[in-house]
Amino acid sequence: MQIAPFQMERWQSTHEHSVEINLSDSGVHPLTMRELLDDGDELVRAADERLIYTQTNGSEALREAVAALYPGATRDAVQVVNGGAEANLIATWDLVDPGDEVVVLLPNYMQIFGLAESLGAVMRPWHMVPDLERGRWSVDLAALEALVTQRTKLIVICNPNNPTGTRLGEETLDGIARVAERVGAWVLADEIYQGSELHGDETPTLWGHYDRAIVTNSLSKAYGLPGLRLGWIVAPPQLIERFWTRHDYTTIGPGTLSDFLAVRAFEPGRRARLLERTHRLLTRNYAVVADWLSAQGSRLRFVPPDAGAMLYLKYDHAIGSSELAERLRAEKSVLIVPGDHFGMDHWLRIGFGGETEHVVEGLARVRALLDEIG
Ligand SMILES: Cc1ncc(COP(=O)(O)O)c(C=O)c1O
Repeated sequence: MQIAPFQMERWQSTHEHSVEINLSDSGVHPLTMRELLDDGDELVRAADERLIYTQTNGSEALREAVAALYPGATRDAVQVVNGGAEANLIATWDLVDPGDEVVVLLPNYMQIFGLAESLGAVMRPWHMVPDLERGRWSVDLAALEALVTQRTKLIVICNPNNPTGTRLGEETLDGIARVAERVGAWVLADEIYQGSELHGDETPTLWGHYDRAIVTNSLSKAYGLPGLRLGWIVAPPQLIERFWTRHDYTTIGPGTLSDFLAVRAFEPGRRARLLERTHRLLTRNYAVVADWLSAQGSRLRFVPPDAGAMLYLKYDHAIGSSELAERLRAEKSVLIVPGDHFGMDHWLRIGFGGETEHVVEGLARVRALLDEIG
């Protein structure tokens, strides 16, 4: 099996720890264990946890806590895995056979696209279109209808979306479900940015909209805990049973401390505090981003994000996005993600979820390079 490099992840893993300012992340500044537990007794309990093999599909307490977030779900509908990345891997690996057609809403985090393609799927890109005048990305359900056939196995969305930060509402989810139902396709919604909304209500989950829904998520973005590598899949129990078989071949189970800390992160009071922290940081930093953008004039164009710590913008300077990102890294020690990694040259993804002073300084350096390029 041939697999193409996952361009964005490789770019980040190569450089994110060697630049002075990393604006390539799409989540918020992570917490320490002390900040997460905010209670001395719990820290002691964590230190005393025996480092066993955990219940391999996630402890009962953790699966109960996850299930409680999805109306009507029981813990049998939940599989705990190592990050959203393993959630997407297991679901795609299980569902996609050679020759299956897979529709992916683009732009997108390209993990499932790359995986499905390597598994022999015929990829059917479904493009969102930016309306820069009206400040929104349009999702065309008629275009989806035209793409779907009896061979469509899976429709993939990311909601809220990476890299655009756009959120799909209930009506669009129902529309996607209707199209999928006509051909019996599964719909996978990667909802990892749910809970990191800049304004408005929490993004609706696909769960409950369709009986062939698969939801993947993790603690990496809205909760600020990427280092726990703690993710989950919510799907009908018979599918979860199959996913568990796959999980035995990948990583067996979640880490003991990750399971322990995730149970604490989901305690209602603590969960609310984590999401409030994310919201505070995003609101504060987006104000910095907005000031920066208004000082740039019309050469940078964008649709304001609904969620996530990402600004996806279009520029008109005479330089390709990979070359621009490389010059920023080499000359200014700032890491961003070039639009080329999403198949969209002349776009950039800039993460603004870090410490505010880093975001301020990073954006100043981006501006300095753009001025030099002219
Ligand atoms: C849409 C999306 N899904 C999954 C992942 C991977 O998540 P995790 O770090 O929880 O494995 C990312 C990371 O950036 C992402 O943006």
